[in-house]
Amino acid sequence: MIKLHLKLHIKSIILYSFSFLMLLFFSIDTVIAAAGSNNSTQLDNATESKITALLEKMTLDEKIGQLSQPVLFIESREDLREAIKKGEVGSFCVIKKSQITPELYNELQRIAVEESRLGIPILFGFDVIHGFRTIFPNPLGISSSWNEQTMMDAADVAASEARYFGIHMAFSPMVDVARDPRWGRIAEGAGEDVELNKRMGAAIVRGFMGDGLDKPDQIGACAKHFVGYGMALGGRDKQFCEISPRTLLDTYLPPFKACVDAGAVSFMAALHDISGVPATANHYTLTEVLKDDWGFNGFVLSDWDSVVEVISHGTVADEEGAAASALAAGTDVEMKSTTYKEYLPQAIESGKVSMDRVDDAVRRLLRIKYRLNLFDNPYIDVKKGHEMQLTQENRATARRVASESMILLKNDNEILPLSGNSGTIAVTGSLAHTNDLYGHWKGNGNFNDVVTAFAGLDANKPSGVKILDATNSDVDADMAIVCVGEPSSAFGESNDVSDITLTADHVKAVKEAKEKYKKVIVVVFCGRPLVLTPIVDIADAILIAWHAGTEAGNALADILYGKVNPTAKTTCSFLKSTGHIPLYYSDRKSGRPKEDNYTDMMAEPLFPFGFGLNYTTFEYRNLRISSPTMSKDGGKIIVSIDVRNAGRRPSEEIVQLYIHDIVADVTRPQMELKDFKKVYIKNGESIIVKFEITPDQLSYFNSKLEEVVEPGEFDLWVGGSSTTCLHKNFVVE
Ligand code: GLC
Repeated sequence: MIKLHLKLHIKSIILYSFSFLMLLFFSIDTVIAAAGSNNSTQLDNATESKITALLEKMTLDEKIGQLSQPVLFIESREDLREAIKKGEVGSFCVIKKSQITPELYNELQRIAVEESRLGIPILFGFDVIHGFRTIFPNPLGISSSWNEQTMMDAADVAASEARYFGIHMAFSPMVDVARDPRWGRIAEGAGEDVELNKRMGAAIVRGFMGDGLDKPDQIGACAKHFVGYGMALGGRDKQFCEISPRTLLDTYLPPFKACVDAGAVSFMAALHDISGVPATANHYTLTEVLKDDWGFNGFVLSDWDSVVEVISHGTVADEEGAAASALAAGTDVEMKSTTYKEYLPQAIESGKVSMDRVDDAVRRLLRIKYRLNLFDNPYIDVKKGHEMQLTQENRATARRVASESMILLKNDNEILPLSGNSGTIAVTGSLAHTNDLYGHWKGNGNFNDVVTAFAGLDANKPSGVKILDATNSDVDADMAIVCVGEPSSAFGESNDVSDITLTADHVKAVKEAKEKYKKVIVVVFCGRPLVLTPIVDIADAILIAWHAGTEAGNALADILYGKVNPTAKTTCSFLKSTGHIPLYYSDRKSGRPKEDNYTDMMAEPLFPFGFGLNYTTFEYRNLRISSPTMSKDGGKIIVSIDVRNAGRRPSEEIVQLYIHDIVADVTRPQMELKDFKKVYIKNGESIIVKFEITPDQLSYFNSKLEEVVEPGEFDLWVGGSSTTCLHKNFVVE
């Protein structure tokens, strides 16, 4: 985003023409951001002036009130009414238990606007992680589509349902790079890769924010959890994260920078400590990087009790210390805990935190309320709020997104897609009838809305196919679809497991089905990349369906019956064993690459990063580059490759481009995804797929932590997965 600070004082320009005298006086003191940007760094003078005027009227208590975000619980509604009237609530954290409705929203907002002294409207935030009432696959699933537009479409539907219901901001996207699938929250992001988390995070921001927060169907985005949360020790949620400064700069910060550039209006400070400094009281990340270096003008929110938890981290002794250290570090608004309300006055009195910092924090929140147009338009249309939920159009989008998220990992003898002559099919497995397919963050979803696997397979079966329910009894069938995986309670926040192997009961179900029905199609409803080693040789086909949301069964049917081609690919490696964690495609080679294996098992994934099968096949040929060299100052290389659809069905293919910096100031990842394109190719046709490589894609942080692009030779790979690529080299000069 280019911000131009223009101070143009054009005294006057007098233009004469025959009968008209035009006198133009311009005195512009305006900040002009790039046109069409949603970026929160976009400030306008009029709003800033209004905020200044409001700040001048506010008492210290009212300012601290704006920095307080209680959780909207149903049982404390009376207390909250009083608090709103006294100007003690700047925003609400709404959770499912709050039972928010358009009616309740208007009731509470009316108290703020019409009964409090200054009438400042309240901002309502909610965990709109993968849907509001219409629920989409968990984000790791949608990221498997490698389709930013698809991610945006899901976010756009979620934003519309949420805003019409009274929600102004989502506590989303989660852009924590995650390389330990024991960690339940790997389900909420875009997996192990930096580039994918950057692009999918930015897509969610754009989907939420659309063409402006003043629109009735858009919401603000809050990027989380800032920063490095995915490095939790042992994959145990909220454990400390030991992250080197370079890894922070190279791996964990870039997806958040992408969210700033896409226009995120808020950031959520994380619950863990970053190499010893609690993320919620971390001046380096929250102020020096986010606000100073990146120019972020939105507000930072704590995560649940993360302000008061600074005490248990042990870097402050009491609540006053927690409040002062968090606010001074850059956490503007305190969610749930009440240390700001109770201790900031004395912390200011004792000089632990300045009034300027308080005013800046209030200003950041008020900016977003103005951008949401809440001062002029605080209420919602209750009738519309109910009407806009779970529409047929939204269901159709959810069905499309879910089917585009499902990864086909195995398809022996092309048992899939099923067709009219597939005969009688037994559907079995403990997840065949489950509606527990909303993942950990269920939004405002209703389980009764879910199309289960069995219901979808039965309702959409092609003529000639018979679907039998074999969950409670054996049936006579030609093959079986076995629905296995993990319940939503096995992943998500604080749901970490010490063994990510498909559990024994599910393995048993697959084995029994193989015995009875000879051919088995295994459907895995999961939130994380489970270890499937116990069934990989038994299954004739394996489809990762994720926690696929409201339209799960219909989307599954679309894939299994061939109405939709499976085009998804892994955004995290599917490992052979829990013991291999962490194992990811972009790790660094050792000094003895040949010796980086276990004695009992090769250290390689069962299914690699970027892998997924299709009902057609693609051939890659003729990788070529426009030049063998590129200048590090403004150079560019065009990469081209021929991709042919060699099968019988038209389909999309995800073409991936990787690089490796062969000799650098520090050791570099053995492969890094730098670009990808999802292209449509008709059966029998070949297209040329082109990429541009520019120096900025080759930068990294050297041993002095300077971001550099260095001369030298690079590996270049282009292909359909991280392990099936054509290779070239090029040189940066
Ligand atoms: C939780 C989560 C965070 C969520 C917040 C509000 O602690 O860490 O992702 O947005 O609370 O529910």
